[in-house]
Formats: sequence, structure tokens, C-alpha cells
Amino acid sequence: MGNLTNKAQWVDTSGNKIHAHGGCIQKFGDWYYWYGENRMDDIYVSCYRSKDLTIWEYRNNILTIHSKTEAVKYETDLMLVRDKDGDYGPVHELNLNRVDPFNKVNIERPKVVYNEKTKKYVMWAHFENGVNYSCARACVASCDTPDGDFVFHGSFSPLGNMSRDCTLFKDDDGTCYFISNARDNMDMMIYKLTEDYLSVEKVVNKIFVSQNREAPVVFKHNNLYYMLTSFCSGWEPNQCMYSYAKSLDGEWKQLEKCADEITYDTQPAFSITLDGGQILYFGDHWSGGEYFSSSYVVLPLEFYNDNSIDFKYVNSFNIENGKYLIKED
Ligand code: DGJ
Repeated sequence: MGNLTNKAQWVDTSGNKIHAHGGCIQKFGDWYYWYGENRMDDIYVSCYRSKDLTIWEYRNNILTIHSKTEAVKYETDLMLVRDKDGDYGPVHELNLNRVDPFNKVNIERPKVVYNEKTKKYVMWAHFENGVNYSCARACVASCDTPDGDFVFHGSFSPLGNMSRDCTLFKDDDGTCYFISNARDNMDMMIYKLTEDYLSVEKVVNKIFVSQNREAPVVFKHNNLYYMLTSFCSGWEPNQCMYSYAKSLDGEWKQLEKCADEITYDTQPAFSITLDGGQILYFGDHWSGGEYFSSSYVVLPLEFYNDNSIDFKYVNSFNIENGKYLIKED
């Protein structure tokens, strides 16, 4: 098992830098799978796996410009390409290949869940045309295995809404929700997904209206649903805030601050609940100008009797037998 230092450049078992930004970790069987953005070359999303959450083995680039595409029965466009006049428009093309040298799209904040009914691993992410952030769509992909080649099912505007920073939350009863900001990042939407997790069934809530929250992270603790979010400031860090509710469609408490005013120079990516019950905050330590040297920060969340939460900065840590351990420098 290895000690990890927050904000350092973490490498996989082959010594290569881990590119899994804005992602998520899920435990499938005995393995933790870490999915995240990898913008190198022709790659969109990479997958690593680990038994202990500290030693990561590269598995696959699960979504690339060469990924297979397959339309689903729902309204999705498989590609946005630039036409000869330089305009962007939806084109129903069965490939995700680079159509022109400028047209590698942006796939951000990929999240993966397993659907017990269809036995598919389903990914949702934020889709942009690669030139600007005006597209504001969600996109979906799926695979039969956690680290296989995912099939891209296209991008769309959930129920007509803009959709940028996003996450998935799978509840204890198997119902899955897509949480994404809408109306030019003004509001946060909570959508219930269809049973196959491939589309949106309905809006269950619209929260933080006109508060410009992004980078949503949702988890459950003591029968309460918590959401961490950041404010919108591009790659620059800002104050993380949290809210909670008794149900996803219920009333969410007023946003409260946690961590410091720049969230220790991070932005929320996801959380993970360890087998022992501890919940960890995973943040991206963005290197805006040099995106490819962005790194990660993992910190244990603290819960108080009045349901408030917080987290403090720790330089180095280890995870042993399902417990986060602070390491003295
Ligand atoms: C902040 C978002 O949270 C990131 O995922 C990314 O979209 C950057 N903005 C881009 O500026």
C-alpha cells in the first residue's frame, strides 16, 4: 500500500501520470474503478482500477474519438460537426471520429454506474463541441464490462434544458438520478433516469435557483442527501458549499460554506464511501493554464450532530483496510 500526497502528480503502476479528472470511483466486485477525463491525444475518458484506492493500474481508454457509436431509442445526436461554413449543427452520424482537425469534442465530468437490470455500465458526462461552451449538453455511453470499450450513445439537452457540470447518484433502491446545472449554470436540476439509465424520465427538483452552482457531488449520510457544489469560476478555485435534504425531491437547506474560501485550491469531483463507512471528498486540483498537470486531493469529510459537515486539509494520507489515515510529514 502506498502513501499519497495531495496535489502531487500521482502515477499508475506503470509510472504514467493518472489522467482521471472530474471523474468518479465506483466499486464493482473486489475492485475500485476510477474513471475520469483524459484529454491526451485522441482520448476522452480513461479507467484505472485498484484494490486499496492508493495503487492504481491503468485499464483502458474507455471513450476515445474512435469509440463505436450506437443510437438509442431516445432523442440523441451522435455528433456535432462543423459544416463547411464553420457553423455547428447536430448531425446524425454514426461515428465519434474527429471530423475536422478542430473538432475533438469535450467530454467532461464522466460518471459511471452499474445497471442491475440491463447488466450494463452506463456513463453520463457533460458534452461540448470542443470550441466553446455554448453547446451545454449531456451525453451517454455504455458497456458490458466496467473497463471495456464504451459505446457512445450521443448527446442531448435533457428535457430541453442546458446541461453542463453534472453527476450521477444511484439511490439504495436502484433508482438513478442525473444532477446537472441548467440555464447557463444558474440552476441545479435533479432528474430521475429511466430504468435503463439511458435517458431522463422526469425532473424531480430544481434547486439553488439563480445561485450559479457547479461541480455537484451527491452522497447519502444518516438518511440525508448531501450535495457539495462550487461556484462558477472556470478553472479557478472558489468556496465549496453544501446543502442537504431529507429526500431528493424535498426541500434543500440553504447553502453553507465548508473547507476554506478556495476549497484548498480544489473543486469537487466526487465522493466515495469506504467500506468502514467513512466518506471521502475527492477534489480536482486544476492547473487551468496547464490542464494536463492537474492533480487530485482526497480528504475525509467530518459530520456533526447538527448535520453540518466540513473537511480539513491534510498533506499526506494512506488508506488501509478501508480507513483513511492521515500521515505525518
Ligand atoms: C469548471 C467546471 O467545473 C469544469 O468541469 C470545467 O468545465 C471548467 N469549468 C472549464 O472552465
